[in-house]
Amino acid sequence: MNVDEIRETFIRFYTERGHVRIPSASLVPHGDPTLLFTGAGMVPFKPYFMGLAEPPAPRMCTVQKCFRTTDIDEVGDYSHLTLFEMLGNFSVGDYFKEEAIGWAWELLTEGFKLPKDKLWISIFLTDDEAHDIWRGIGVPEERINRYPEENNYWFSGDVGPCGPNSEIFVDRGSRPDTCNECRDGKCKPNGEPDCGRFLEVWNLVFMTLYQAEDGSRTELPRKNIDTGSGLERMACILQGKDSIYETDVF
Ligand code: ALA
Repeated sequence: MNVDEIRETFIRFYTERGHVRIPSASLVPHGDPTLLFTGAGMVPFKPYFMGLAEPPAPRMCTVQKCFRTTDIDEVGDYSHLTLFEMLGNFSVGDYFKEEAIGWAWELLTEGFKLPKDKLWISIFLTDDEAHDIWRGIGVPEERINRYPEENNYWFSGDVGPCGPNSEIFVDRGSRPDTCNECRDGKCKPNGEPDCGRFLEVWNLVFMTLYQAEDGSRTELPRKNIDTGSGLERMACILQGKDSIYETDVF
C-alpha cells in the first residue's frame, strides 16, 4: 500500500463507523498560547475535549500534519521526521476504550492485514480495564506490558487535556547480533537503548483529565478518545522497509 492508499483506508474505515472527516488544521495552532506548533491530531480539538466548545460531531477522524519540537534530537533515525502526518480518530464524550481498542485492532489486522502475533501492546501501570479489553481480543499476556507514567501517559503540553494511553507496536524481528535483550529473548517495547525491533505505530489516549499549570489534574467534563498513528511509520511497516525514509513518502 502506498501512503495515499493508507490514508484512504484509514479514513474509509472510520467514516464507515460514524466519524466525520475533518481537514488537517494549520501547523500553527490558532488561539492556543500554550503550544507553538500542532504536534498531534488532537491539538485543534482541545476546546472540545475541555468542554469549551461543541465539536462538529462526537466522532471525528483526521490526517493531521504535525511538527514536534520534542522529536528534533531524534530526527534522522529510522522513525522520526520533522513534518509527519498523523492518522487519528477521536471521540468527544461518545465511545471509549472498548471501541477505540477494538477498532484499532480490526483495522491493523484486517484492513492492513498485519499478523496478530507481531503486535505488542503497552498499557499504563494500573489500567486493568485496557488490559482486560486487550486480553478479550486475544492478545496473549506476554505481549501486553505495563509501564509507568513516563511511557504510558499522554500530555498535550505542560497544560491541557491528558490521560493514560495504550500503544501498539509492531515486532520487526529479533536482532540478536546487536541487542543483548534480543539475544536473551527478553527484548520488549520501550527498551533502552532502542534496538529498532519494535516500532510504535499507534497511540490510543484515554483522555479524561486536565492538567493545570501547577501540575494538578482534574476530571474533564466528558470521557474522550484521542488516537494517533504515524502515516510514515505505517507505510514503513506495510512496505517492508527498515526506515521511514525508504517509504514512498520520499
Ligand atoms: N495525541 C496522541 C499522540 O500524539 C495520540 O500520540
